Amino acid sequence: MGYVLWHVMMSLDGFIAGPDDAMDWVLGYASPNPAVDEVIETTGSVLAGRRSYDVGRRPSQRPEARKVFGGAWSGPEFVLTHRAPDDEDDPTITFLAGDVRPAVATALEAAAGKNVLIIGANLAQQCLGEGLVDEILIHLAPLLLGDGVRLFDRVGAAPIHLEPTSVTQSGQVTNLRFHVVD
Ligand SMILES: NC(=O)c1ccc[n+]([C@@H]2O[C@H](COP(=O)([O-])OP(=O)(O)OC[C@H]3O[C@@H](n4cnc5c(N)ncnc54)[C@H](OP(=O)(O)O)[C@@H]3O)[C@@H](O)[C@H]2O)c1
Repeated sequence: MGYVLWHVMMSLDGFIAGPDDAMDWVLGYASPNPAVDEVIETTGSVLAGRRSYDVGRRPSQRPEARKVFGGAWSGPEFVLTHRAPDDEDDPTITFLAGDVRPAVATALEAAAGKNVLIIGANLAQQCLGEGLVDEILIHLAPLLLGDGVRLFDRVGAAPIHLEPTSVTQSGQVTNLRFHVVD
């Protein structure tokens, strides 16, 4: 059985996107990273929030940026949204609505024994609040973005305890891995 992983690149001041969802800074730290390669190999399905999906489809995006891991991964992708678009022609993308619990169950089944990768802070926070995330992998970029989308806004009512499981360095990026205890 696979597990649920939230993997994300974060600036040192705690942002995962800059103002207006700017993601260009991520490219500056996209050099080869074994921790990312491992995520690509072990991911069986993706569960993304609608805002992440929309940012990936902006007309200004490069074609490869529209795909998960720039096209280095392929498989079933689920997008949680209250307003499914009618112009998506990629058959691997399915739009879901409703509670995150059945959405995660659907993604785990589709992952067929591999892991579910969560994309999007809002979605990840909902999943954390419901106890549905097993691992968090943060790629810490040596950059102060100053403003934008925060990694954690308000996760839930109670503290969530994490166990650090590894710290590795890849070029300028520090990979911080945590197991979610409770
Ligand atoms: N640095 C990184 O590695 C990284 C990775 C991924 C994304 N990002 C960035 O993160 C930002 C997006 O993250 P985010 O936290 O703002 O948003 P998000 O989690 O991607 O998406 C949130 C949206 O998903 C929909 N949604 C969430 N839960 C739902 C539910 N239970 N049922 C139905 N719809 C639901 C809602 O949209 P609707 O109500 O409109 O449908 C909600 O506003 C973007 O700027 C993206 O570029 C950064």
